[in-house]
Amino acid sequence: MDIRSIRKDFPILSHKIYDSPLIYFDNAATTQKPRCVVEKIEEGYYNANANIHRGVHFLSQEATEAHEKARRTVQKFINARSSNEIVFTRGTTESVNLVSSIFADACMNEGDEVIVSVMEHHSNIVPWQIQAARKGIAIKVIPMNEKGELQMDVYRNLFSEKTKIVAVTHVSNVLGTINPVKEIIEIAHEHEVPVLIDGAQSVPHLKVDVQDLDAEFYAFSAHKIYGPTGIGVLYGKEEWLDKLPPYQGGGEMIASVTFEKTTFNELPFKFEAGTPDFIGSTAMAEALNYISALGLDNIAAWENELLQYATEKLNTIEHMRIFGQARHKSSVLSFLAGDIHHYDMGMLLDRLGIAVRTGHHCAQPLMQALGIEGTVRASFSFYNTKEEIDAFVAGIERVCKMFH
Ligand code: ALA
Repeated sequence: MDIRSIRKDFPILSHKIYDSPLIYFDNAATTQKPRCVVEKIEEGYYNANANIHRGVHFLSQEATEAHEKARRTVQKFINARSSNEIVFTRGTTESVNLVSSIFADACMNEGDEVIVSVMEHHSNIVPWQIQAARKGIAIKVIPMNEKGELQMDVYRNLFSEKTKIVAVTHVSNVLGTINPVKEIIEIAHEHEVPVLIDGAQSVPHLKVDVQDLDAEFYAFSAHKIYGPTGIGVLYGKEEWLDKLPPYQGGGEMIASVTFEKTTFNELPFKFEAGTPDFIGSTAMAEALNYISALGLDNIAAWENELLQYATEKLNTIEHMRIFGQARHKSSVLSFLAGDIHHYDMGMLLDRLGIAVRTGHHCAQPLMQALGIEGTVRASFSFYNTKEEIDAFVAGIERVCKMFH
């Protein structure tokens, strides 16, 4: 990949922050947008703005076709069997809330159990706790080893006849661990238990094939994969989406309504109440096409090279602690340098134009398992360079000198 020319597609990357070139290492929080995605949004509002699925007029039909084409792009991108299995949501968080809510309603009773992992983002913990409070379900947790890998032997033994669903993250947003989700799903299926995968941190970095994984549900967000904010996807196997009840009521999700009785629309519209983000969906498809043109294998190879390079360099710094040493790891580097508080490190790096995330990363139970309050997290994208990593490491060394 020609990184220099790729960077030209992302105007923000040539910005200066406090007179230093921006070094953007907060890609796990959100990614920057290529020009084509922003232009797609502009083009949508200027030229193709009309409410979809509702009008007989030309513009409405054109907007509808663009939205449904975007759905087919998503279908192809994750290799779903049918575009009926692609539900547009506001993002991963809404997708997880959708599944936990309707699944608990339809398939869980008091005492039933959901299995999650210790490295879940709050968005795959709290929705289940809400259901726990509503329905009296219990949450079981897969622990990890000291490298930050899930303990599969413990996982195998967490199943009981009360286990109704497994919900785990594909890639940890803190440790970068790539979890063996195919094996996790296989084991769940041996117990006839369906699986929801949080793919927020995997889809931007790995080729995801939902048929190969055989997950019942898979969730991700557009903004983490170079698309717009406020839109995301819930993939669900058709048989499951068919039998589960709707999540929200409103326009679009109905077949007919009387005051006595409402019948619901077919898939995927049953789960898309209200006017969807039809501009966002087309911009998201544009982002997926952009990624496909670069090639996820190329992206993964370069990001892995950046990760190895940064890890080696960071390890030369005295009193450096890196959290997450999994064998299979995505381009996330969480660390603490001696006893320097993560906020101090983050704020001082920011003065050098370097954007990293600090804190608990919406994974407080994971922080508790690690016995820390937070970390500094650098997360790399294909548009990052080794020169940026050199500047980042020099920045950390400078901060360390200030403190010691
Ligand atoms: N979930 C996002 C992160 O890890 C916001 O930073």
